[in-house]
Amino acid sequence: MKYNEKGFGLVPEAFFMSFTKKYFTNTLLYNSQLSKGIKYIIMKARIEELVKLLNHYNQQYYQNNVSDVSDRIFDGLLEELTQLEKEFPQYILDESPSHRVGGTINKNFATVKHQYKMLSLSNTYSDDELDAFDQRIQKTFTDYEYTCELKYDGVALSIRYENGILKLACTRGDGTQGDDITANVKTIKSIPLKVNHPLLQNFEVRGEVFMPKNEFEKLNKERAENGEELLANPRNTASGTVKMQDTRLVANRNLDCYIYGLYGEDLPAESHSEALKLLKSAGFNVPDSYAACKNIEDVKEYIAHWKTKRLSLPLDTDGIVIKINQFSQQEELGNTAKSPRWAIAFKYESEAACTQLLEITYQVGRTGAVTPVANLVPVTLGGTIVKRASLHNSNEIERLDLHYNDFVFVEKGGEIIPKITGVDATKRSIDAKKVVYISHCPDCNSLLERKENEANHYCVNSLQCPPQIKGRIEHFISRKAMNIDGMGPETIEALFEAELIKDFADIYSLKYEDLIPLDRFAEKSVSKLLEGIEKSKEIPFEQVLFALGIRHVGATVAEKLANAFGSIDNLAKATKEALEATPEIGTVIADSVVDYFSDSLTFVALNKLKNAGVRLEMDEKKEQITLDTLGGKSFVISGVFENFERDELKKHIIQNGGKVLSSISSKLDYLLAGDNMGPAKLDKANSLGIKIISEKEYLGMV
Ligand code: IVH
Repeated sequence: MKYNEKGFGLVPEAFFMSFTKKYFTNTLLYNSQLSKGIKYIIMKARIEELVKLLNHYNQQYYQNNVSDVSDRIFDGLLEELTQLEKEFPQYILDESPSHRVGGTINKNFATVKHQYKMLSLSNTYSDDELDAFDQRIQKTFTDYEYTCELKYDGVALSIRYENGILKLACTRGDGTQGDDITANVKTIKSIPLKVNHPLLQNFEVRGEVFMPKNEFEKLNKERAENGEELLANPRNTASGTVKMQDTRLVANRNLDCYIYGLYGEDLPAESHSEALKLLKSAGFNVPDSYAACKNIEDVKEYIAHWKTKRLSLPLDTDGIVIKINQFSQQEELGNTAKSPRWAIAFKYESEAACTQLLEITYQVGRTGAVTPVANLVPVTLGGTIVKRASLHNSNEIERLDLHYNDFVFVEKGGEIIPKITGVDATKRSIDAKKVVYISHCPDCNSLLERKENEANHYCVNSLQCPPQIKGRIEHFISRKAMNIDGMGPETIEALFEAELIKDFADIYSLKYEDLIPLDRFAEKSVSKLLEGIEKSKEIPFEQVLFALGIRHVGATVAEKLANAFGSIDNLAKATKEALEATPEIGTVIADSVVDYFSDSLTFVALNKLKNAGVRLEMDEKKEQITLDTLGGKSFVISGVFENFERDELKKHIIQNGGKVLSSISSKLDYLLAGDNMGPAKLDKANSLGIKIISEKEYLGMV
């Protein structure tokens, strides 16, 4: 089938152009003159056509590095498909690319029994152990070959295809049964949702899901900006991500997956290397780094070749997997209860050194989170001198059973920051004292707090603790926040030391005559700074909200809150319940916002911003009202809806002439109730006699 640019192949384009244009002008207003039956047939065909076409483009892009269409056209077709699927959910196909973007919630993960057990591998660490493995093989065969692959450091995954369509994806679990994580796995773009290969219809593949190093760094950078706890490493993050409930969040994390195994009856391959080749040709992400090795000496060469080269790969690897190549020979060797006899892993020694702990210092970040840092006797590791290593939090100190002056093992894996992996307790002096985590802030001496379920200790004296104030000012002026040019950490330090600023809001009272006497403040830099400050008063409210540095309120959350509440005054008044009713705002964020506005000093800073003319409310630009079907009636929406994301539903109400409120009061007209609505809301609406309507009833109204 040859498709044109708009993706029309089955039905004449002119027909569809007019049909879909009208259809999308306003889905619910659309009133086809076609009979319902014909409309359904056409829509089903169009959905199938779009799925086929978009999957083809995806495959070209992700497997063959070919971009057949522009992003704009691709996004347009995907949007069309998503809309059609919303209207005709009965025609959603398992292989639909709309699953890639998520949008569903995993309520729980069903346990699934594996058709083929998911075994583990025995490890080797030396040439001698490799020779011993090879000698065991030689007891059974004289003629054999190995395939070597890298050992990817992620999460094992099994995927079942039926008639070429991805039906089930599950975790390893205990090797016999794992969790069904199909919806999350469908968001991983390099995993085909449909395989178009005549030889591959009913089969299983095994692979490793991983978070690419650059994605991990990006994620941690965002978390640091939002004052959230940093994630420990890509592997744990991948493992946590595949078990997340919200598939949209999974999709945003850009996981990837390398495939390393094919399982099934009557496989169309006789060896592992043939299977890999076949899988690659069928669109699976099989890295090119595997190699055939004629004997164990070739294997050792492969190991040496990848020893350092692997460090520049986009993912963490911790060794090599060596497999007997012929399937018939694999079968003959069989498995032990835990691992195959035909394969073994070789683990690279990570570079490690032993050195002594000098002292532990504690750093306080802008959110008050305290990070313990081990200061070490300098030691050379992987060509660089290591003097410090992060200890993350008190749990880590506890896990290591760290004592003062201990000798510790420091390792540098693929990661840049060295970590302490253990303690040499044999070198510990008898009178060594166990490290006791500090109880008071090292900077302002306030009592530290630790919330339930959080690993970090916090200094809660947020408005008076110097590193927190300085950190907040740095965040406030940063590019994505108030974007004030001409002010770096040194300037902040100087202004703080000169007692010209005590919090970020004081920036707006800085005057030329205050700044000019300071060291390093020439006339030009003072003017530039004052100009930058003045210009920041035009920054829109959502960005100002982000600049305030409320814990867990990153740029995206700030935008959502700004849209939902409209002004800082409304947000300050919002209850936890009202906050939680806002799309994508959960308990953690709601608690943090309520906490922020419960401190009277917050209002001192906010008043200074208000007086300076900083924008603390949204623009007056009104949503375009296209209809007046709802006659100004007010709605609170709660729960999960079948036909709309919550943001869409809000927009829909506004576009139909209704109002969306964030909390239930006696003035409210309707509570629009979706699935899983909280009982508290229901009780409140009932007690105030508010009319509660379902999504279906709402659709009837419009
Ligand atoms: S083959 C019998 N190949 O290592 C197991 N495993 O310790 C056959 N792994 O759970 C596995 N990279 O998650 C194989 N190239 C690779 C691998 C690999 C990583 C993981 C896999 C498995 C674990 C076994």
